[in-house]
Amino acid sequence: MRNMISCNRLYCETDRNALPFIGKKSTETICSMRDNAANFDFNQKGSFIMNLYIDACVRKNSRTRRLAEYLLNTLNAPYIRLRLEECIFPEVDEEFLEKRNRLLREGDFENPIFAYARQFAQADEIIIAAPFWDLSFPAVLKSYLEQINVVGITFRYTPEGIPEGLCRAKRLYYVTTAGGEFVPEQYGFGYIKALAQSFYHIKDIELIKATGLDIEGASVEKILRDCEEKIGR
Ligand SMILES: Cc1cc2nc3c(=O)[nH]c(=O)nc-3n(C[C@H](O)[C@H](O)[C@H](O)COP(=O)(O)O)c2cc1C
Repeated sequence: MRNMISCNRLYCETDRNALPFIGKKSTETICSMRDNAANFDFNQKGSFIMNLYIDACVRKNSRTRRLAEYLLNTLNAPYIRLRLEECIFPEVDEEFLEKRNRLLREGDFENPIFAYARQFAQADEIIIAAPFWDLSFPAVLKSYLEQINVVGITFRYTPEGIPEGLCRAKRLYYVTTAGGEFVPEQYGFGYIKALAQSFYHIKDIELIKATGLDIEGASVEKILRDCEEKIGR
């Protein structure tokens, strides 16, 4: 079913309030619009198709964020942006684990501590923007993953101990940039891909990357534009 909705920019206060431990601007819902009206798809339950943009970029003039936002513009679908640098995640210590296990045993999946996990599980597409740091990504992304990896919300285990995904999303984009040209995939993108495919059951994973940005004499603008051109194809 397709519906026409007219709006320019939609901010979602309720989502912000529903998520615990976040800063003022860390989450907002954005309808990126090319025209004055958008075609929004509705899913089978009748709610908006809503993508989730997980922004793990740290620098103000982040090149990774620039590419991710180019992608979002190309996708032209409403999305929720989660700025991880503005989130204050609870420490995952023994007390937190015990509380979480108790809530899960009691079936209290609506508890606010599961808000990030529920939001991730309900998103229609996932877009992660994360610069290449120390062969991987910024630690804040790992902190976020610790919040969303919740048995019973984003995945569950079969009696044989095999993870089964519980997420709605079918596709995940991973956008990254690196300073050099030695960019092995296994600790950054590869790790996210393994989690997505084996835990969340998101099979369609796309890597978007621009490398060599900090090499002396690099044509940074050209590298970024070439990447944007590939995104646009
Ligand atoms: C803490 C830190 C660690 C980094 N580690 C690497 C690395 O292991 N390999 C590499 O090629 N570049 C590394 N870089 C360079 C970044 O990958 C590069 O500048 C990237 O484009 C930054 O993305 P941004 O513009 O979105 O902030 C690192 C930069 C920082 C700040």
